[in-house]
Amino acid sequence: MTVNNSIRGCLLVPSEEQHTWTLVEDGVIEFDKDGKITSVSPAGEDCEVRVTRPGSIWLPGFVDTHIHFPQTRIRGSASGELLPWLQTSVFPEESKFVEAAYATEVARVFCNSMLSHGTTCASIFSSSDPGATNILFETMHEIGLRGDVGLTLMNRGAPDVLLHDTAEAMDACEQLVEEWHGVDRDRLRFCVTPRFALSCTPDLLRAAGDFASKHDLTIQTHISENHDEITATLEMFPGSEDYLRVYEDAGLLTQKSLFAHGVWLTDREWDDIADKKSSVSHCPDSNFFLGSGAMPLSKAIEREIKTGLGTDIGAGRSFSLRKCCSRGYDASRMSGSKTDAGELLWLATRGGALAMSRGDQIGLLASGYDADLVNIELEDGIPSTVELICEKLVFGEDWSGVREVRIRGAVVWSSEDEGVRAV
Ligand code: GUN
Ligand code: ZN
Repeated sequence: MTVNNSIRGCLLVPSEEQHTWTLVEDGVIEFDKDGKITSVSPAGEDCEVRVTRPGSIWLPGFVDTHIHFPQTRIRGSASGELLPWLQTSVFPEESKFVEAAYATEVARVFCNSMLSHGTTCASIFSSSDPGATNILFETMHEIGLRGDVGLTLMNRGAPDVLLHDTAEAMDACEQLVEEWHGVDRDRLRFCVTPRFALSCTPDLLRAAGDFASKHDLTIQTHISENHDEITATLEMFPGSEDYLRVYEDAGLLTQKSLFAHGVWLTDREWDDIADKKSSVSHCPDSNFFLGSGAMPLSKAIEREIKTGLGTDIGAGRSFSLRKCCSRGYDASRMSGSKTDAGELLWLATRGGALAMSRGDQIGLLASGYDADLVNIELEDGIPSTVELICEKLVFGEDWSGVREVRIRGAVVWSSEDEGVRAV
């Protein structure tokens, strides 16, 4: 295949499965016209490729495994713990997305904010409005972003404007799958997204599970984030033994399921998630903001559960996965889970790709993978070891530092433009 593009510079190369990195101080990434990497190698003495953005580092683009599009504008809305926060801050804002003009304006800001922080792929909760969901897909399509987008399914516990009955919701999902699922060689995918058990009747959860199975789709939802949420869920689903079983009983516990938060999962639930090869999204900044607690990361790592990091905008305050890693470090200190900056950074890139069932496409700098890359300039230059580079990336003062973002080799954002480019 013809190689028509290449990048030369300092490369931070993730391991495929171990949570570690290798440094190639002067390396070359070559990719073909489809943006697939054809080779990664040290630049030889006779290398004629010019250094791309000297003094900076190239690594795989960040993967945000849990983020809410219609919460872009309510970051920092501090109205207490999860359940009151949903009623006071979230539902009134999400109700605005029935207006196409509002959804269009926010979609642009949302996508640009991800890119400016180096995020190239995300697992996204849209609002419960099919029109707004379509607008988000269109915006991502135009910009070239990669991701899974779900219509947030709810038929109880919120203002009427956000609720759709089961048949109506499944019709909307069917149309969105038809229009968007798998578009541009799987860059865009539809994800089955029951908000959480408290927002859905058993009938809607079951329909969501059946729909995912029929189309072989990824699934995302929330689980065990907050004590009041867990108590209310178990009261509402008295026939299910624990929170995870509510989802399992509805056919929502599969190897393509991605569960966000999991702060208070029991050992039985952790074991079951591992057995079913499901994934977890660790959302430490959000968990701190809502006072939910610190997810014990070691429970996931010990069981080899596919784990990514999620900003969880808008309970999370920042689009930066670097900042999210730093919060993840704090959470691990509190929960007694041993980790380090390198591991957290790995979870925010390669780990997220695996958690999103995209491990065969992205998250590695290796031949056959898509060239989804972020270029970052550090405050005081590039330290000499992998450990120090990871610590600077995770604990540094500047949470973006992003100079350029590429998806399938194409520049989709650069600090010179400070804006998105259509590809
Ligand atoms: N649980 C149900 N909905 C939400 C949400 O929007 N954000 C968070 N953090 N948890 C939830
Ligand atoms: Zn969330």
